[in-house]
Amino acid sequence: MDNVAVGLDIGTTKTCAVIGFMNENNQVEVVGVGVAPSKGLKNGVVVNIDNTAASIVKAIEEAELMAGCEVTDVYAGITGQHIKGENSRGVVAVSNRGRTITPTEIRRVIEAAQAIVVPVDREILHVLSKEFSVDDQTGIKDPIGMNGVRLEAEVHIVTAATNSTQNLLKSIAKSGFQCSDIIFSSLATSEAVLNQDEKELGVVMIDIGGGTTDIIVFFEGGVSYSAVLGIGGIHVTNDISIGLRTPIEAAEMIKKKDGCAVIDIVDASESIEVPSVGGRAPRRIFKQELSQIIEPRMMEIMEMVDRELLKSGRKDVLAAGVVLTGGGCIMDGCIEAAERVFNMPVRIGESKITAGLRDKVKSPIYTNAVGLLMYGLKMREFQKGKSKAGRESSITSIGKRLKRWFEEYL
Ligand SMILES: Nc1ncnc2c1ncn2[C@@H]1O[C@H](COP(=O)(O)OP(=O)(O)OP(=O)(O)O)[C@@H](O)[C@H]1O
Ligand SMILES: [Mg+2]
Repeated sequence: MDNVAVGLDIGTTKTCAVIGFMNENNQVEVVGVGVAPSKGLKNGVVVNIDNTAASIVKAIEEAELMAGCEVTDVYAGITGQHIKGENSRGVVAVSNRGRTITPTEIRRVIEAAQAIVVPVDREILHVLSKEFSVDDQTGIKDPIGMNGVRLEAEVHIVTAATNSTQNLLKSIAKSGFQCSDIIFSSLATSEAVLNQDEKELGVVMIDIGGGTTDIIVFFEGGVSYSAVLGIGGIHVTNDISIGLRTPIEAAEMIKKKDGCAVIDIVDASESIEVPSVGGRAPRRIFKQELSQIIEPRMMEIMEMVDRELLKSGRKDVLAAGVVLTGGGCIMDGCIEAAERVFNMPVRIGESKITAGLRDKVKSPIYTNAVGLLMYGLKMREFQKGKSKAGRESSITSIGKRLKRWFEEYL
């Protein structure tokens, strides 16, 4: 199958590959999923290339087996605290004869907007246009064809530490696959879980993973803020392990089975069994005692996100509220905890996939891999469309350039 693409989520706790294609009804159809534990990452960043490559091989081979086809290249996600998002503006004069805005002017103004100083150890991952202004008219989404003398663009620029990007690329190369593109994880995940009307109304998507919590804010259809925090579900598990003096594996199991992020919704009479360390007999504790350990950590994560929201300056206008995704949000009480901290409506974001193995990839754990697949397929469609329209001459087919061009209209 030459029309399939692969979304590859190299997460802190697991590596997940999702294979799919765009079917005749224009739906993304998932045909293969593979998951392997990640052993070479810390807080979303590759710290061991060999181990990361081994997880990639395992996940992709499993997905290939299920899909019954072989793949060569992947769309991979990147996250980590090294990722920074910032807003920028660019202005150009519309100097062609008719003073009409064409794709050339759009490209010029986007280029002007990305003229921020990027330190030598960082690189630009995405330049996402939010809106354009033509002369004094603001809030224009697609100015092509309009007349004016001054074109202004507002963009959100995502940059990453070059070392982290290189280590991710090296891991993929070592696994024997090619990387079609690297995409900021939150941006890809938003493809899989958010609806267009939420993006228009204003929404924050929070991906609580194992080692990171990723935040992305959409307003009026565009990205207006993004950030990555180095905290996630692993911290909750560690707290349980220390607090209950039980091995990490047992703490992880207890958390998944009986954890609740809010103490006062837990039945006060319920108790659970906790394995002890050093060959001692297991003990019974009240479920509420477990939540006494979990709640403060979950609250801390949410409060850290809340501080980012305040920084974004958009907190008060996010009419579509909060969408939680990532494995860390599966726990009972997560919605209640988030509602208390953010004071906004909260929902859990699952993958919007409607065709193929949708039940296999619905869980918030797989939204990143699915989002990467959807993003990749969209990008491919765009590239095909562009080449059909014979516009390659002005848009060099070099990945990055094409990608940015594509994102202007995403
Ligand atoms: N049922 C559950 N209840 C509570 N927590 C859960 C549940 N299922 C998974 N988790 C937690 O979700 C986390 C993993 O989530 P996810 O797979 O989204 O992370 P990741 O992508 O590997 O990491 P990151 O995005 O931080 O790099 C783990 O900490 C795990 O304990
Ligand atoms: Mg993740």
